[in-house]
Amino acid sequence: MPKSTLKNLAIIMDGNGRWAKQRGLNRTKGHEAGAETIRDITTYCANHEEIETVTFYAFSTENWKRPKLEVDFLMRLLDRYLKNELKTYQKENIQFKAIGNIHEFSKTLQTRIRKTEEETKDNTALTQVLALNYGGRAEITSAVNSLIEKGKIILSEEDISSALQTPYSDVDLLVRTSGEQRISNYLLWQLSYAEFHFTDTLWPDFSAEELDRIINEFKQRNRRFGGL
Ligand code: IPE
Ligand code: IPE
Ligand code: MG
Repeated sequence: MPKSTLKNLAIIMDGNGRWAKQRGLNRTKGHEAGAETIRDITTYCANHEEIETVTFYAFSTENWKRPKLEVDFLMRLLDRYLKNELKTYQKENIQFKAIGNIHEFSKTLQTRIRKTEEETKDNTALTQVLALNYGGRAEITSAVNSLIEKGKIILSEEDISSALQTPYSDVDLLVRTSGEQRISNYLLWQLSYAEFHFTDTLWPDFSAEELDRIINEFKQRNRRFGGL
């Protein structure tokens, strides 16, 4: 009998740049290939009976440090991805949701994001969350500030959980590609009792078959949550 159930999956998609470099290509080609992988993995998750949400780390609050040309490319790619993806969201019954400080993006991109959320809000097979200009510390800080603004003085864990942007408060499984073993300011609160899986595969090479193997291994894990 499998031991662990998987409702909330989180993914740090890493290695697009190295994938491109290995092929003598510009880093942007790695990001384009990586966008295809998001589509495959999302479709796999929508057809998986246990998974309710998959949250992809697409742009961190620290990624503004990259050259302007790369940042601008990532913004355009995101707009193009959401525009093309609407068909898939409707076909696969997927709801789209953004987390992160998207008000720092261009007005056009913000409109695209809000429109995609609105048009997919009644879909029920899966929620695909994209973390955009997201940082775990920033998310916790704004959650706490929003509670203070509402007049709260003493905060409970439940208060903070419910003021976060994610539609869940616990991640079950975190997968990071490209061999790096760190969380890079991702979902700090929600990863509290998550299981971790690090793979050397670079994100553009990651596949539904590999995710399926990772999930099968995860299901055999014995999560104790501090108990026996
Ligand atoms: C992940 O790939 C995508 C983003 C952070 C936007 P990277 O761009 O970080 O690829 P590497 O780590 O340089 O190979
Ligand atoms: C984490 O990847 C952020 C995203 C995947 C969006 P990075 O490539 O930015 O992280 P570091 O710099 O290696 O920690
Ligand atoms: Mg990276």
